[in-house]
Order: sequence, then C-alpha cells, then structure tokens
Amino acid sequence: MERVGIIGVGRIGGSLAARLAASGEFELTVSDAYEEQARRFSQEHQRVRFASDNLEVAHSSDVIVVAVKPWDVAMVLEGIAGEVGGKAIVSVAAGVQIPAISGRLPEGAAVLRVMPNVCAAVGRGSAVVAANEAGEAYLPRVMKMFGHVGDVMELPERLFDAATALHGSGPAYVALFADSLVQAGVRAGIPREVARRLVNGTIEGTAVLLKDRAAHQVRDEVMTPGGTTAAALVAMEKAGFVGAIHDGVEAATEQSRRLAG
Ligand SMILES: NC(=O)c1ccc[n+]([C@@H]2O[C@H](COP(=O)([O-])OP(=O)(O)OC[C@H]3O[C@@H](n4cnc5c(N)ncnc54)[C@H](OP(=O)(O)O)[C@@H]3O)[C@@H](O)[C@H]2O)c1
Repeated sequence: MERVGIIGVGRIGGSLAARLAASGEFELTVSDAYEEQARRFSQEHQRVRFASDNLEVAHSSDVIVVAVKPWDVAMVLEGIAGEVGGKAIVSVAAGVQIPAISGRLPEGAAVLRVMPNVCAAVGRGSAVVAANEAGEAYLPRVMKMFGHVGDVMELPERLFDAATALHGSGPAYVALFADSLVQAGVRAGIPREVARRLVNGTIEGTAVLLKDRAAHQVRDEVMTPGGTTAAALVAMEKAGFVGAIHDGVEAATEQSRRLAG
C-alpha cells in the first residue's frame, strides 16, 4: 500500500487526505501546526494516522505532500530535509517553484509541484503537475493520488503562474459570475432563492454540456438570431465582459509571478 504523508490538513491537504482515506488504497499519516486539527482528522477518518510532528510524517511515508501556506513551506522543508532520501516531496503551494524547494533538500531529491483548486473538496478539482528530473519517476503515482480529488494533467512549470490564475483562482471567478447573475435576477423581481437555484442549475448543467462540446457551440445553440441571448451577449461585450476576463487572468498571472519572487 502506498504510504502517503500529508503535512497541513487545511482546505487542500484535508480534502486530499479525506479522499485518499476513503479510497482505502493508501496508508496515511498527517500532521498540522494546529495539532488538534490533525488529531481530530485522524479520529474522523479510517486508516489515517496522526503524527505529532512533521518529521514523523516524513519518516513514515514514501510520498510527502506539503500542503501549508507558501510562506510556511521553507520552514517545513528545513524540518524534514534529513528524512526525504529515496522519497518524493510534493508541494501544492502557489508560487513556490521547484528550484526553491529542491534547494532546501539534499541534492537529487525528487520534487513535484501540483497546483490544485478548491473544487478538490467535492472531488471535482482540477490540477496540474510538474516534476524535476528525479521526481519524474513519481509522476504516475502522484497523478493517481490527485486523481482522487479531480482531473490531473501534466504541465511545464513555466506555465504554472498562468494555470494558477486560470483554475487555481477560477472558482472565485465563477462564484463572482454566479453572484452577479443572482443579483441581476433579483433586480428583475425574481425571489432570491429561486434566482439562486436557477443560476446554480444553469452553471451545473452548462458544465455538463461543455464536457463534450466547445464553448462556442453551446453559445451558438442558445443564441437564436435576433433573440434575447444575442441582445444580452452584445450588451455584455459592449460593457467589456471578455476584456475584463482577460485583464483579470493577466493580473492574477502577474501577481503569482510577483509572489514567487
Ligand atoms: N485554497 C485554495 O484554493 C488553493 C488552491 C491552490 C493551491 N493552494 C495552496 O495550497 C496550500 C494550502 O492552502 P490551504 O488553502 O489548504 O491552506 P490552509 O487551509 O490554511 O491549510 C494549511 C494548513 O497547514 C498548517 N500548517 C501551517 N504551518 C505548518 C507547519 N509548519 N507544519 C504543519 N502544518 C502547518 C496550517 O495550520 P494553522 O492554520 O494552524 O497555521 C493549516 O491547517 C497553499 O500553499 C496554497 O497556496 C490553495
């Protein structure tokens, strides 16, 4: 059985640990700066062992996932560096690049970087993964692990800032769009709860449609010549809808680069 350690059982680490535990395919050990959180996690999930410190997690695992905030990564790596020989380190931290991780570990350490998103909490996440030379051997195992919380693809690390902007922050864009639609419905007189259900259902259904057809096909199916959708899309475009999305993703990409230093 794959021995996986997870350091930091917050939103991302906790979602991953919960799904891996439920699969029954992994032997898990978890730790957290807030010890009680990791202890409670291990009590609530079968086959999850609590460790009182990160070194113990590293010692009892073959793949070690570092799921702490970016500014805590260096400290975690320093604490476990002596225990990572022959193992893989997987970081999910935004903006912390592979050389910055391997630079804090013994030479030749296997390092992988994964950029997930918060949809992992419901098993419908999207993630990209990159590895250094030593980490490449672990790619299939790590992709299988993250496959338990969603869809995983390989992507060169040079594109991680753009991916962070696209799908890492993506759920917030969709949520903003959903909220704007609900407000527009309320403004037009639709009761808030009805508007919310209509918008949620529309987003969910459209996501299913988009699985096997291109976005422009879905748009064209709804956009009857001379109809209401055409009127809406032209008005939205005049107000700069597409331009705003380009600007937002570009700003997030630049911010991700800045955070990486
Ligand atoms: N949330 C997202 O949408 C998202 C998307 C993509 C990538 N990420 C990346 O995923 C990482 C985790 O984010 P998150 O949202 O899951 O954060 P989070 O909910 O704050 O979880 C991080 C956990 O790690 C713990 N921790 C901090 N320092 C530690 C240490 N030295 N040893 C062990 N545990 C420690 C924290 O404990 P305390 O709370 O007690 O400090 C917390 O429980 C981040 O680097 C982020 O960039 C997040």
